[in-house]
Amino acid sequence: MTYTEHFEQIVKDQLARVERLLASSEMTDFSKKEKIIIGTIDGDGIGPIIMDSCRKILEKLLADEIASGKIELRTIDGLTLENRIAKMETVPQDVLAAIKECDLLLKGPTTTPGKGDNLPNIESANVTLRRELDLFANVRPVVIPEKNIDWIFYRENTEGEYALGSRGVDINEDISIDFKVTTTIGTKRLARAAFEYAKNNGNKNVSIVTKANIMKKTDGKFLSLCQEVAKDYPGIKVDDWYVDIMAANLVNDQINSQFNVVILPNLYGDIITDEAAQLQGGVGTAGSANIGGRYAMFEAIHGSAPRMMEDGIGEYANPASINRAAVMMLKHIGFVQKAAILEKALDAAQEALSLPGDGTGNTATDFTAFVLERLS
Ligand code: IPM
Ligand code: MG
Repeated sequence: MTYTEHFEQIVKDQLARVERLLASSEMTDFSKKEKIIIGTIDGDGIGPIIMDSCRKILEKLLADEIASGKIELRTIDGLTLENRIAKMETVPQDVLAAIKECDLLLKGPTTTPGKGDNLPNIESANVTLRRELDLFANVRPVVIPEKNIDWIFYRENTEGEYALGSRGVDINEDISIDFKVTTTIGTKRLARAAFEYAKNNGNKNVSIVTKANIMKKTDGKFLSLCQEVAKDYPGIKVDDWYVDIMAANLVNDQINSQFNVVILPNLYGDIITDEAAQLQGGVGTAGSANIGGRYAMFEAIHGSAPRMMEDGIGEYANPASINRAAVMMLKHIGFVQKAAILEKALDAAQEALSLPGDGTGNTATDFTAFVLERLS
């Protein structure tokens, strides 16, 4: 394929994707579902360790619902780096089919081979799942009570730099080109979700973050569409920032507590949410929800921590992040009281235990036992 044919193919695929999005308006109403199937996926590295914690905690917290058949916790096997490499598929077909039979997913981190890892260059399983299940909003709360910080990030989750992240071209030895995609439907549905959250939570401030001065087409479109959606929410204070100064604002204690809901394109959202999570106490402490119309997937914000496994200190992994994601999942399906019970136990664990992730302090097992004891 010449690179002009390659580009033509990319454009065709994106046009077809937009057609599909325009044609589908699926929306699961969890309050009306007789049975909710939650698929649990271990992932790689520290994944099985933190997922074991989360499963045990949910089994206790939801014991009645599991016994009555209202909720099923279903283990989904096979989303491991070994199996993905053996099959040379980012998400093997049989695993994807099993995933699509669930309503919700709780997922441990999966390893993405990077340059220099000497592994086949398969795409990130996260990126594939977000795309395959059309999980368009990546929602990441960060709360730091002592600094009066209450942030929630709405990161676009299927477009931007990620839509074609593994379909860039090496034109020749000297030039490589990647692509970034912004669509009207993709941006508006994200902006709408963020503004709805802001409205339903006391008209919180909304900040739109782009680099529209440089990425004029894609970020320019993102910014103006978010501003257009904002017009439907006259009670909400809206401002916009370039991503570089926003990175600075978040560590500026003079002003950081004035931000609430932050809307960002995919890659900036990836970077800024790690920064924000670090301010809260580390990437091990923050949960993350990937929300779509039909499916939703909840996961830890961090990766599989291969270095912890190599150093033999996997037992010291912090299960807080995946359990915070479980709180978001319970809220998503309307189990507000269960969510509050778990949240309180997690806050207590964060207060009482120390899991810095360097092989000192408490273990994942300590964490799980502490939380289990506070659930009843
Ligand atoms: C995240 C992660 C992923 C991303 C990786 C694992 C592909 O960093 O969920 O933030 O870049 O989105
Ligand atoms: Mg990230």
